[in-house]
Amino acid sequence: MTTATLPPGPKGRFLGGNLDELRRDPLALYGRCAHEFGDFSTMRFGLRRVYLINHPDLVEMVLVTNARNFIKHYGLKMNRLLLGDGLLTNEGDSWLRQRRLIQPVFNRDRLAGYGTVMVELAERLAASWRDGETRNLHADMTRLTLEIIARALFGTGLTDKASEIKAVLETVGKSFNRRLASFFVLPESVPTPANLHMRRAVQRLDEILYDLIRRRREAGGQNDLLSILLQARHEDGGRMTDRQLRDEAMTLFLAGHDTTSLTLSWGWYLLAQNPDVYDALQAEVCGVLAGRSPTPADLPRLPYTERVVLEIMRLYPAAYMLGRQAVAACELGGYHLPAKATVLMSQWLLHRDARWFTEPERFHPDRWADGLAKRLPKFAYFPFGGGPRQCIGNSFAMMEAVLVLATLAQRCRFTLVPGPPIRPAPGLTLKPSRGIEAVVRLTSCPGAA
Ligand code: HEM
Repeated sequence: MTTATLPPGPKGRFLGGNLDELRRDPLALYGRCAHEFGDFSTMRFGLRRVYLINHPDLVEMVLVTNARNFIKHYGLKMNRLLLGDGLLTNEGDSWLRQRRLIQPVFNRDRLAGYGTVMVELAERLAASWRDGETRNLHADMTRLTLEIIARALFGTGLTDKASEIKAVLETVGKSFNRRLASFFVLPESVPTPANLHMRRAVQRLDEILYDLIRRRREAGGQNDLLSILLQARHEDGGRMTDRQLRDEAMTLFLAGHDTTSLTLSWGWYLLAQNPDVYDALQAEVCGVLAGRSPTPADLPRLPYTERVVLEIMRLYPAAYMLGRQAVAACELGGYHLPAKATVLMSQWLLHRDARWFTEPERFHPDRWADGLAKRLPKFAYFPFGGGPRQCIGNSFAMMEAVLVLATLAQRCRFTLVPGPPIRPAPGLTLKPSRGIEAVVRLTSCPGAA
């Protein structure tokens, strides 16, 4: 087979390439590439050439079949100051050692223990809501998932730190977006005002994290993720160093709340606009639970709630784009990829592709009812990624999303506050452009006490 060198792609400017469009509207740029140039296209972001692949088989080649030839791309590495060598950013033998060490933390029996905490904190949030009040549901879901991951990781609540953590993470997120869309990125070690600002934010987050670790050590729990990490031993008997522990704890803390918060936030947004789906969801949770608190044992009896979660992640995948860098030159889909080439693949595009999903823009949880997941090509739907670097927290996240939806849907309905459209604002994850403002209506299940 002949191998072409450069796939087609949108024309760019002499210097910046397609950076202007990337800054203006990244999702529109990626969509235009896929629609005008097909399943393999290319763009230039300043000096960087990137390749966008938009077919499940090509994604499988990169994430699974030829995974050894691909490492995480430059975007994630821009977060090294924050994430260090935690699981998300680590590579090679060091990553594999850590992944093997941490995997048991997420086994089914251990996860069940966190379910009680998830429900308890969701109930506490619902109890703080008053009938008719307006809430920013994205802010509420972030606070909730932060509390949940803090309790699961450190066995302790965040007390007064949640707002501060949220503010620090906003600074970090803005800094990341700015650097991703820059023509030339100075290393984090160069003391520019922006880098110093970012450094201070990370320092503050470190202080909070170390304080949580200290409090956890004093309290001496056994069932939280951190104590399991503290006790874990590598195959050669070695333990994690303090630095590794900090990096893994920070990674789990950040990766473990933002994505789930966004899934829930977009969920309430979609449910508020689709009352028939909300009716069916309430009918299931009220029918199964009749007003009592859900537990992990109820999960098999909440299939519709699970389908709602799958459908939320199809339309609004919190991780909407994955990137990889080729280690050595290779052939992919009939094209020659040079060493160090950046390959992008987007859940946002593939999950809304009419080749795999009928009426792709429609929020329709029942599309998952008759084994759709099994019929689809493997990477037409991949909210948790795939291959060796697949999300380690996927079962934790699914359990959390289903339990929180089931808890809150028994007690409330939401009406969106009218205003300008809420758009997905892509950064490292896919956030709602102006939060999710909604009026809360407290309800109860028929016959519930
Ligand atoms: C709806 C919620 C979530 C979504 C959509 C999500 C999505 C993802 C995706 C797409 C990846 C793969 C990234 C890549 O291949 O470059 C990933 C990796 C990861 N996720 Fe999640 N995630 C979620 C929840 C969680 C939770 C709850 C945790 C931890 C408690 C977590 C921890 C991680 C870690 C540590 C990795 C890196 C794994 C590795 O490379 O070995 N995630 N996640």
